[in-house]
Amino acid sequence: MTANLEAEAGSAPQKRLFIKTYGCQMNVYDSERMADVLRPLGYGVVDSPEGADLVVLNTCHIREKAAEKVYSEIGRLKELRAEDPASAGMTIAVAGCVAQAEGAELMNRAPAVDFVVGPQAFHKLPELIARSSRAKGQRLEADFSVEEKFDALAGAKARRRITGAAAFLTVQEGCDKFCTFCVVPYTRGAEFSRPAQAILDEARSLAEQGVREVTLLGQNVNAYDGIEGGLAALVRALAKIEGLDRIRYTTSHPRDMDEALIAAHGEVEALMPYLHLPVQSGSDRILKAMNRAHTADSYLRLVERIRAARPDIAMSGDFIVGFPGETEADFEATLDLVRAVDYASAFSFKYSRRPGTPASSMPDQVDEGVKAERLARLQALLETQRQGFNASTVGRTVPVLFERKGRYDDQIVGRSPYLQGVFASGPASLIGQIAAVEITDTNPNSLSGRLLDQTAVMEPA
Ligand code: 5AD
Ligand code: SF4
Repeated sequence: MTANLEAEAGSAPQKRLFIKTYGCQMNVYDSERMADVLRPLGYGVVDSPEGADLVVLNTCHIREKAAEKVYSEIGRLKELRAEDPASAGMTIAVAGCVAQAEGAELMNRAPAVDFVVGPQAFHKLPELIARSSRAKGQRLEADFSVEEKFDALAGAKARRRITGAAAFLTVQEGCDKFCTFCVVPYTRGAEFSRPAQAILDEARSLAEQGVREVTLLGQNVNAYDGIEGGLAALVRALAKIEGLDRIRYTTSHPRDMDEALIAAHGEVEALMPYLHLPVQSGSDRILKAMNRAHTADSYLRLVERIRAARPDIAMSGDFIVGFPGETEADFEATLDLVRAVDYASAFSFKYSRRPGTPASSMPDQVDEGVKAERLARLQALLETQRQGFNASTVGRTVPVLFERKGRYDDQIVGRSPYLQGVFASGPASLIGQIAAVEITDTNPNSLSGRLLDQTAVMEPA
């Protein structure tokens, strides 16, 4: 997915806004909405912090490394503000999950920060800016009113600026699952589903602006219950919107993958054959300690049912190695599960101890060296599978949604139904369109293809 926060060409904005986004796609969506909220105040997005009037760091707290990066960035901004006369008036704001989790501590540890704003309060940015001139001191705002945020954003919807053919759309926030390693239930709060009508309105308005693909976002998107029939019903309603040809959703929990949603994968043409379904571990003992509410076997059976509905589906997952108490045998069970599923893509992490979560105080924390060694083995296997999946698409003709120009003249870049990046030679007029491409080669992180005559018949999905 591309982040649609590009510098705006054309009329010079009066005030310069630089947003740096860390972490998940929900943060990318939130950053775009922050730009929408600030646009009426005369802020235009720029692509570097030099000379910016306002810098927003939209942060991630999921692993320690992600949180620490924020402090280094604040240090760099502080220096820039002190040394560069053009940046002397810069306001520094920290938004997102670090702001939520460490608000007061962050203000103490990083006095250069003018204010913090939690993930449920960024619609109050204009007010915070007005109140936080450096002379007046600092503000702290980190509450949990997700409903209020969506209401406030509904007003900003009309101002939502679309810069591409693919857009994110938040449908659900928060998490009630309390996996023992995870901070999300604490930083993003309880599960909340946006009313279906608001989502359908926003999707219609996106489609009218040329958006062809939406990715429905939620920390637990398949727990969506803003419409009778859940996410499956929402997907079916969205699929009826004229011009909206592709629907994706992320991230799902195996527990909420119901029959209706599985059936939709077989029946709704617009629902793309790609599913991010984190498993975290292949050891039942560890899954239990993680409070995942599924076993390795129940996950494998679930994948089988999904594949029965949609045989070509590309599976993706998240993995944690070195959870407290993980033995070599537990880790081998994870490798076995990976071999059984055969993933098209995946994200894998070393367990990171997060203060306040149950796992952080469990005994038998795993040595960092062991974690690193297991991660390397897991990633080698996942990489082989990813390359294998990409290689299996060579020779096939797939519909590609072109999203932007490539680096070379005549080159355009898009996405396959399986979320692979695809490069082809073709006219820029195809950007925003779906065209048939014969895949000819694999590259380390993408595919190359040959554009077929536009009238060519596309391979049935
Ligand atoms: N340590 C390592 N990885 C984590 N994740 C969540 N919390 C932690 C943690 N404490 C991973 C999980 C989740 C993904 C978004 O981040 O795999 O699915
Ligand atoms: Fe975190 Fe588990 Fe909720 Fe995912 S399901 S956000 S890993 S607590």
